[in-house]
Amino acid sequence: MSASNESWSSRAGVILAVAGSAVGLGNFLRFPGLAAQYGGGAFMIAYFVSLLIIGFPIGWAEWSLGRYGGRYGYRSSPGIFHALLKHPAGKYLGVIGFIIPVMIYMYYVYIEAWCLGYAVNAAAGNLSQPGLNYGAFFNHYTGASADGVSLSFGLNDVGIFVIIVYALNFYLIYRGISKGIEALCKYAMPALIALALVILVRVLTLGTPDPLKPDQNVLNGLGFMWNPGNVAEGLKNPQLWLAAAGQIFFSLSVGFGVIITYSSYLKDKDDVVLSGLTASAANEFCEVGLGGLITVPAAFIFLGASGIVGQGTFGLGFHVLPEVFARMPAGAFFATAFFVLLFLAAITSSLSMLQPGIAFLEEGLGINRKASVTLLGFVTSIGTIFVWYFSKDLKALDTIDFWVGTMLIFIQATILIIIFGWHVGIEKGWQEMHLGAAMRVPGIFKPIIKYITPLFLITIFVLFLMKNVFGWNFSWGAAATFNPTSYIVDLVGKTPSHVARLSVGLIVVMFIFTLVLAHLAGKNWEKKPLNTPEDNTP
Ligand code: ALA
Repeated sequence: MSASNESWSSRAGVILAVAGSAVGLGNFLRFPGLAAQYGGGAFMIAYFVSLLIIGFPIGWAEWSLGRYGGRYGYRSSPGIFHALLKHPAGKYLGVIGFIIPVMIYMYYVYIEAWCLGYAVNAAAGNLSQPGLNYGAFFNHYTGASADGVSLSFGLNDVGIFVIIVYALNFYLIYRGISKGIEALCKYAMPALIALALVILVRVLTLGTPDPLKPDQNVLNGLGFMWNPGNVAEGLKNPQLWLAAAGQIFFSLSVGFGVIITYSSYLKDKDDVVLSGLTASAANEFCEVGLGGLITVPAAFIFLGASGIVGQGTFGLGFHVLPEVFARMPAGAFFATAFFVLLFLAAITSSLSMLQPGIAFLEEGLGINRKASVTLLGFVTSIGTIFVWYFSKDLKALDTIDFWVGTMLIFIQATILIIIFGWHVGIEKGWQEMHLGAAMRVPGIFKPIIKYITPLFLITIFVLFLMKNVFGWNFSWGAAATFNPTSYIVDLVGKTPSHVARLSVGLIVVMFIFTLVLAHLAGKNWEKKPLNTPEDNTP
């Protein structure tokens, strides 16, 4: 079956698939790390404001634009933008919606392989050996210690797991929308929630495991994560807003180019409003209700604040937690459950990053499923081998994550919301969004979508550039300083990093490749439009 005549088999199926895309490593690793770093209260306020101003509106816009594109037979961002803008530039504007998911997949799947590898190592008891140096284990396993060291295929290496997760992802994507993606999410999502609940109950019943350290107890662990601290002071910190907004994008998978593709497989009058809201709510439950209560409190109870502060996302998940589990009764079981949970969360997300690529190759080049899967497998494997080989300090992974997984997402989200609110127009967009809707969106979201979301996004983006690229200290006048960050210094500084340069080179090559594909696709679509529905709204 080709991508263009597939569809979801049920409403629950598409909601689970979008929730599967959203619930990922971001929920169980990235979110707790950020909330702990910025202090629960202030961060959560910025986080929920971002959810209301960017998460929900951009999500609804993506769902609506995707379903609209699907009506014309288009499933990929370049195709949907071509149908929407009715201008030769449309398909080129849409290429970001192909590049983001495909390039995030390249490194995300590598982390997914660590999760599976850690699960197997935990089950084999390798992570609970007395005296194990968790940092050294992580550095060798992931290759963070030196380039190329993790490119090995022994039983204790990550190599075999990279192959397994690749095979699984491409097998499932080959099976298609309902038999691959939907079938996996139907089982994986309930399973991961059940695992998270089991681990959560374990963490919340740990009490005070070390009587000599009475402060390291469950309540203080929760307090470390959630006590509000100085909220007013925290909210004045622009960096906190950037982190909160970035987390909303990453976690909900909005602005990735994924939701727009998933919703293109909806039928014309299938609801998008309630479905979008439900998928986002499921993500928030997993993020705030599960992720937010497990990782940081567990680490605090055994290691105290010093075990958490400054650890970063990977440090928390792959050094601190295995050590924490090793100190718990039945630790090997809980460690295995935790890494299986991470693996399930990751695979439902990585799979969603492949579908936009498959859809574009099929509808743009007119090739069949086998050919598109082979071509995408080839393209993504170049990137994954690159990230895997240039692993020292996870430099390649970090560089691509910054330029594509953070920066490009801001740009794509801004393009989407401007197309929806201004090109389609808020009135027509609103009408399109409510076709077949199971609930109405409160009217206040009209001005939010049209004015506030784009303004908020542009402001956040400018601040993001000033801070994370040019290293502004957020002061004005004589007190203002600019110290370009490592992302710039690595590229054009006195001692550039050749890995960072190569990583940016890879992104540029990917742009050129995708623009050529879009050009070819445009020629095909001009010759033979995919579908011309009678109903031409909006
Ligand atoms: N939304 C996915 C995550 O949170 C990418 O990991």
